[in-house]
Amino acid sequence: MRVFVAGATGAIGAQLVPRLVAAGHEVHGMTRSESKQAMLHELGAVPVVADALDPDQVAEAVGRARPDVIVHQLTAIGELDLRHFDRDFAVTNRLRTEGTDHLLSAGQAVGVRRFVAQSAIYSFYARTGGAIKTEEDPLDTSPPRAMRETLAAVRHLEGAVLGAQWTEGIVLRYGAFYGPGTSMAPGGEQFELVRKRQFPLVGNAGGVWSFTHVADAAEATVAAVDRGRSGIYNIVDDDPAPVAEWLPALAQTLGAKKPRHVPRFVGRLFAGEVGAVFMTDIRGASNEKAKGELGWRPAHPSWREGFAAT
Ligand SMILES: NC(=O)c1ccc[n+]([C@@H]2O[C@H](COP(=O)([O-])OP(=O)(O)OC[C@H]3O[C@@H](n4cnc5c(N)ncnc54)[C@H](OP(=O)(O)O)[C@@H]3O)[C@@H](O)[C@H]2O)c1
Repeated sequence: MRVFVAGATGAIGAQLVPRLVAAGHEVHGMTRSESKQAMLHELGAVPVVADALDPDQVAEAVGRARPDVIVHQLTAIGELDLRHFDRDFAVTNRLRTEGTDHLLSAGQAVGVRRFVAQSAIYSFYARTGGAIKTEEDPLDTSPPRAMRETLAAVRHLEGAVLGAQWTEGIVLRYGAFYGPGTSMAPGGEQFELVRKRQFPLVGNAGGVWSFTHVADAAEATVAAVDRGRSGIYNIVDDDPAPVAEWLPALAQTLGAKKPRHVPRFVGRLFAGEVGAVFMTDIRGASNEKAKGELGWRPAHPSWREGFAAT
């Protein structure tokens, strides 16, 4: 098939493009930069230069590529201060609202048969009931104030993609990424905070995280492009775990001292309510549906070995 990847040069895109090519697809990879065309050539894609926030450029780029499938992996996260979550996600939120709408209109104009988009599980599922959530479980209707716009943008993306009746709209809710090109990799921001003992356990450290190695996220995305059905898939590893478990294990893997422990109110002071919720209250996710319907198996089934292997 001909596959148009928006976000082809990013942490996930760079893993995804060569896998799509290896699976026999003709890939058209979008970037804003003339200078990244060479990188896209090397990854095996036909480079397409366009700004995702410009509807005319997107329509022209998609119109020229005439893809069978569009994959939306656009984000612009950069530095993140959890106290100002919505501020730091402002451009990503535009990419998830306007950017999604532009790609959907352009895709509809050429009749794409599938539209696969990046979503996320973090702080998305309702913080009530069990620790492990399926795609059927309710979403958080009262998120911390500082990330309301961000969650509204993700909901917009999901609603628009799932509501597109003219195509197979597929939403992939990825877990927290780790691995090459992410902030959870050697030299990456979060690994460095753990190494410097600046990533403490907060309160009960009972927030449950689901991780996804970025290569596994790419493999799952190829499976969704090839055989996904309209709907939502959690793309996470087999081993959701509370912060109290994974953070000390990561510190040990990195040869760092044990993480400090601070009360919730201190955590809230430094990382805001979003940080406190991430550390004490979020829920993990189940990958049963993705395994069953996509036939996907993570090559890194647990962060326990996965962290050490990055
Ligand atoms: N689930 C998760 O845990 C999760 C999800 C997303 C990101 N992250 C992490 O966040 C960190 C950084 O993410 P990032 O957002 O900076 O991603 P990134 O890896 O730089 O990828 C962003 C992609 O979006 C494209 N893009 C952005 N704005 C665009 C625009 N206006 N028009 C066209 N393309 C545009 C970029 O293309 P060009 O720059 O080439 O134009 C690039 O291909 C990484 O560590 C990543 O792993 C984690």
